[in-house]
Amino acid sequence: MKVEILKTAADVAARGAFLFEEAVKEHPALVAALPTGRTPVLMYRLLAQKKRAGLFSLGRASVFNLDEVLSPPDEAHTFFQFMTKHVWEPLGVPLMGRHIPQGDTKDPEAECARYEAEIAAAGGLDLAILGIGADGHIAYNLPRQVKARTHVVTLDAATIATLGPRVEARLRAITMGVETINSARSLLLLATGSSKADALRRMSHESPTDEWPCTYFKDHKDLTVIADRAAAAHL
Ligand code: PGA
Repeated sequence: MKVEILKTAADVAARGAFLFEEAVKEHPALVAALPTGRTPVLMYRLLAQKKRAGLFSLGRASVFNLDEVLSPPDEAHTFFQFMTKHVWEPLGVPLMGRHIPQGDTKDPEAECARYEAEIAAAGGLDLAILGIGADGHIAYNLPRQVKARTHVVTLDAATIATLGPRVEARLRAITMGVETINSARSLLLLATGSSKADALRRMSHESPTDEWPCTYFKDHKDLTVIADRAAAAHL
């Protein structure tokens, strides 16, 4: 894995935006997996500024969420809402290009299979932009809930707490699996803040283990990790 260490979280956002923009310039019909969470918000905001200035657009791209919670999509904590606000609308993704597991599905297992088929039908992922949890999760491949392909997970209390107040105590989600993500031609992982330092250290130094899902990605042939100094402190 290639690691770029930058001074601040703002530098990480700017570098991520630049690399995403370059990928779209090279290949406007890019098929990308995109993350939610706090980390990518500033990157998306920088790209939205470029979009407003007519310098960037995802108008021909297809974007696939890495994951989605199993809640009706009109609920505030869903990634459907996050993507509408931070990506689909501000970056100009047409309806046809928006892909996300259906959070109100009656049959989550069938929805996982449908989502895998949708990625394959798009020709596979060109790029996956990733965050990392303090516990080493990538997408919602949580510790001891890792699978190769898109699957259902049960969120733990700490993960549910990151979704905001008033989210039910028992919540499941659908996530791309490790091989789904690793089949992308390029991976770009953004990590900021000292809470990510231990996970990044384990990713870089430990053998693949279900305890630290991030360890399954380090051997990808085109992985770039962009970290601020705080997140890279133990590398
Ligand atoms: P965060 O989430 O960006 O809000 O820290 C990271 C993740 O869960 O992948």
